[in-house]
Amino acid sequence: MGDSSQMLANIFEQPSVAERCLAMDLPMPPLPDVDRVIFSACGTSRHAGMVGRSWWQTLLQIPAHLEDAADGYPVQVPPKSLIYLLSQSGQTRDVIDVAQRFPTAPKWGITNGSKTRLHELASYTLQTHAGEEKAVAATKTFLGQLLLLLRVALAWHDRANRNVPQTIVLQSKIAQIPQQIQTTLNQTEVACQQVAQKLVAADRLILLGSGINTAIALEGALKLKETVYLHAEGLSSGDFMHGPIAIIESGFPVITIAIPGSATYDKTITEAKRVKSYGAYLIGITTESAVYDADLFDAVLPITDIDELLSPLLTVIPLQLVAYYMAKNRGLAIDAPRNLTKFIG
Ligand code: M6R
Repeated sequence: MGDSSQMLANIFEQPSVAERCLAMDLPMPPLPDVDRVIFSACGTSRHAGMVGRSWWQTLLQIPAHLEDAADGYPVQVPPKSLIYLLSQSGQTRDVIDVAQRFPTAPKWGITNGSKTRLHELASYTLQTHAGEEKAVAATKTFLGQLLLLLRVALAWHDRANRNVPQTIVLQSKIAQIPQQIQTTLNQTEVACQQVAQKLVAADRLILLGSGINTAIALEGALKLKETVYLHAEGLSSGDFMHGPIAIIESGFPVITIAIPGSATYDKTITEAKRVKSYGAYLIGITTESAVYDADLFDAVLPITDIDELLSPLLTVIPLQLVAYYMAKNRGLAIDAPRNLTKFIG
């Protein structure tokens, strides 16, 4: 690494954050009598909530929704809803407002702090134990949120005897996650440096994801906006076909996340070919053993092979690194971007 940036250090701490999140005691309270979960959060924590929503829908087969706390949502909370509040700091005003607006609804929380306002307002709050995150851009705390959401979903599955076959298979795979994160960091860093160099003069970027990885496209765009001041937009690859693709012209940089084995993989590749055919400079985030046409991607940011449902834990890593190296190449204040302040949990 050879760099004093907090953001880079935080990115490289993620294997140990994962170890801690998987090893920590997870006392599960009695399950609330609910028939839906409403995730509410802001910024990066909202993107963690998007992934959580997918996990509740697929691993637990429980209806799940995501509301933007910064936009004043949820407006209503139907009876038998659990509000799940995610906040690295546990202090974000918009998130605390949601908790206060619905005093009688059951509320759970995840935060990186130990004695936060969120602890006071939610009945069950878990701490990510990611360690202090001094860089404004959230990286390791995002990973911690994802891992605790995953662990709670798996624990809920067992406690409620839901017996979802896909979830049972996934249970046996989570112990490998810290090593997979480490391997991905090792595999992808040089490619991220090269892409950051290639994009040295870029002033716009599109990031595409699909399914559970649409959240990661949005998160990558947020990292690039806040650390590189780059006009970056994250969308679902499918939605991009419905109008936004008109923006593509020769050399337009696009990053697409395509994970083999996912229900959307073939569709995503077809969409990627279309984007490429209009002249995009196309960068793929995909697994090391993925098979695709040799001329599809102009550059590849590899991650280690992983089940699609767990892949957000890895696909975010190259995007964190590209944001970091682009900011570094441009001589920006990586850990303290302009116009932003951060509550530390
Ligand atoms: O402390 P919180 O997680 O509630 O903060 C929410 C957002 O302000 C935060 O995630 C912000 O988007 C970060 N700077 C992202 O890196």
